[in-house]
Amino acid sequence: MEQQKRYGHFDDQHREYVITDPQTPWPWINYLGNEDFFSLISNTAGGYSFYKDAKFRRITRYRYNNVPMDNGGRYFYIKDGDTVWNPGWKPCKTPLDFYECRHGMSYTRVTGRKNGVEASVLFFVPLKKWAEVQKLTLTNQSNEVKNLKLFSFEEWCLWNAATDMENFQRNFSTGEVEIEGSTIYHKTEYRERRNHYAFYHVNTPIQGFDTDRETFVGLYNEFADPQVVIEGKPRNSHAHGWSPIASHYIEVTLQPGESKDFVFLLGYIENEQDKKFSAPQVINKDKAHALIAELDTTQKVDQAFAELCQYWDALLNIYNVRTGNDKLDRMVNIWNQYQCMVTFNFSRSASFFESGIGRGMGFRDSNQDLVGFVHQIPSRARQRIIDIASTQFPDGGCYHQYQPLTKRGNNDIGGGFNDDPCWLIFGTVAYIKETGDFSILDEMVPFDNQPGSEVTLFEHLKISMDHVINNLGPHMLPLIGRADWNDCLNLNCFSWDPNESFQTTENVSEGTKAESLMIAGLFVVTGKDYVALCQKLGKTQEAERMQKAIDAMIEAVKKHGWDGEWYLRAYDFYGNKIGSNECDEAKIFIESQGWCTMAEIGAQEGMVAKSLDSCKKYLECEHGMVLNNPAFTKYIYEYGEISSYPEGYKENAGIFCHNNPWVIIGECLAGRGNDAWSHYAKILPSYVEEKYQTLHKVEPYVNCQMVAGKDAFKPGEGKNSWLTGTAAWMWYTVSEFILGIKPDYDGIRIDPCLPETATDYTVQRKFRDAEYEITIHPNGAQKGVKTITLDGQPVDGTVIPYSAGKHVVEVTM
Ligand code: BGC
Ligand code: NOJ
Repeated sequence: MEQQKRYGHFDDQHREYVITDPQTPWPWINYLGNEDFFSLISNTAGGYSFYKDAKFRRITRYRYNNVPMDNGGRYFYIKDGDTVWNPGWKPCKTPLDFYECRHGMSYTRVTGRKNGVEASVLFFVPLKKWAEVQKLTLTNQSNEVKNLKLFSFEEWCLWNAATDMENFQRNFSTGEVEIEGSTIYHKTEYRERRNHYAFYHVNTPIQGFDTDRETFVGLYNEFADPQVVIEGKPRNSHAHGWSPIASHYIEVTLQPGESKDFVFLLGYIENEQDKKFSAPQVINKDKAHALIAELDTTQKVDQAFAELCQYWDALLNIYNVRTGNDKLDRMVNIWNQYQCMVTFNFSRSASFFESGIGRGMGFRDSNQDLVGFVHQIPSRARQRIIDIASTQFPDGGCYHQYQPLTKRGNNDIGGGFNDDPCWLIFGTVAYIKETGDFSILDEMVPFDNQPGSEVTLFEHLKISMDHVINNLGPHMLPLIGRADWNDCLNLNCFSWDPNESFQTTENVSEGTKAESLMIAGLFVVTGKDYVALCQKLGKTQEAERMQKAIDAMIEAVKKHGWDGEWYLRAYDFYGNKIGSNECDEAKIFIESQGWCTMAEIGAQEGMVAKSLDSCKKYLECEHGMVLNNPAFTKYIYEYGEISSYPEGYKENAGIFCHNNPWVIIGECLAGRGNDAWSHYAKILPSYVEEKYQTLHKVEPYVNCQMVAGKDAFKPGEGKNSWLTGTAAWMWYTVSEFILGIKPDYDGIRIDPCLPETATDYTVQRKFRDAEYEITIHPNGAQKGVKTITLDGQPVDGTVIPYSAGKHVVEVTM
């Protein structure tokens, strides 16, 4: 195997990924903030901040897909004699004597050294605060006195990230700032409808400032050589229109060995309508002063940072495994759970691949994300379920996305994705199993956010099931609508117009013909959960009604959904098979194999085993399982976007990591532990990290959405990191199906599925008011629990009954 260059390594003890070379193959980023105020930060301190909504409340400006890549961020320029450098190497790119970036749990520390000076910046958003802290520590490691000039830099976004990039005829005239002591306030549009402003503060007197971009940078200069920094002299510019920025100028003298801290604070404030101004045209700064006062010393900032670290300690102590395999343990205990929090917070809105403008919170995405997160902070998952369900329509259909700031359904994209409703059951059941909180089902939840339309959440689940039953096609299989989980399987779109969106048009058939086997499997899986829930609630009639529908669906799949060696993928508008041996291309698809094996449809007839074997035979490659095989080589009018992608990328035979776990769970249910593990390890970041840092390109500590498949120009190259349902599915798969610790209504079900090489391992699991220490002795078995003892007493079956307190569980397989 070709030895690849490495750019960093894991530091498990500190729960950090340590980047040792700033020139990573792509910006490797981290997220700051846990609720409300968020930032994206790259390994060179690029990125931006926003409040709740990356589109409507963008605080600082960022230019996507720029040249050079990742330009714009929070930059500190240090001028030491004639040398100007940045702790994170960019933007000046002055060669550093030492560089390191440590991405940790909601914080990033960037350290650079040059000519005997060390600059280390700790970036984080304190809990419950609407601000990003940037604690800069300058240390003189040389033997001489250092006289340094320090310039900070942030560029303001004019709030709406979309119009900020478009409406220059207006934007260049609206920008407004105020300067007070060491604080620069950004108040564009505050004079009219906005009741919010931002500020950039430093906790020391300054010797100058700049707030006008062209004055600071110079029209013909760049971030790499701002004229003010080159000249070593601020111009105290006051921005009127054009592009407002915030830059502090500080003169720093350091004796040999001396070290000084500077706390920079980027904050966001909202004022009540009648308290907006303290004098005509002057913003009311009371709240800003109060926020600054909470974070204006090293001590206060260190305290806030300690609280953030404790917060993560507590979150990561809920599920903790010791297998002795570092690569597995670090993903399970640290990075996979961390990524789940991030996807829960952001859905698919803001990353270095998602611009924060196009997509808010996805209906299906958020339901899946919360399954990866619910054990961490169940109360937030509860609120999310209510928010999502509130965007549903009375017939069970739903808005495909909603905006985090307003929580309103997004009309631009609308609804009609027929898998969406099922995911609400998936999310809600996971929440109840984790918490035992059935009361959520009695919450009154509106349709389309309309006051007065409220029904119980249970009713929302019921109409979700009914939406599938009421939308069956010619083979009694679910109609696909605009698309199912695969956004790009657009069987009702029929587009030859390049100006048309594939997914938002339905211009020929009104969606009454094309059917999805993926939804069929999804319906059976979530339907079984729904039936069990109804039984639990004593709703026997409803349980029976739905069981009939499930049985009918299973029959329909066996009759019309089986191709001989695998499950079909769909029927198109003309009733032709998709994903069949009869097709020229794309004979087999992964989604229906995943969902129909998870649903165990036709297990007795051997369908499940054959389907799983076919995945190995046709879909598997070195980097994971591809979505379909063979790839489409031409555009197919009646299939839509899926055939628009070049071979091996995205939904056309890319390794769409999100769906690999479906097959892995299918393997686990079938008891094939060796196969489950080998599929899992192929897309587990820590294994990829070891082998393929250069090829893989994107962050090695999290999953990305897509890795180029075997038909691609560059198989193994990753794209679209961070915001992917893969995070939640990897978590759900490893925690519940591989390691086998599965929350249930009345306790924890223990049912691991392991490779036969697995050795004894222990899981610490906090569950409601209990804490379990569960040790599993696999004894070479792939599946099958033989005995369980709870605090020394034998347990019947595989569910350890819940009771509060500390418990010790021993399991032999
Ligand atoms: C992508 C999908 C994505 C969709 C969102 C498509 O182009 O391939 O992965 O979900 O756009 O609009
Ligand atoms: C990304 C979308 O966010 C998700 O909803 C969809 O299921 C996948 N792409 C597959 O198309």
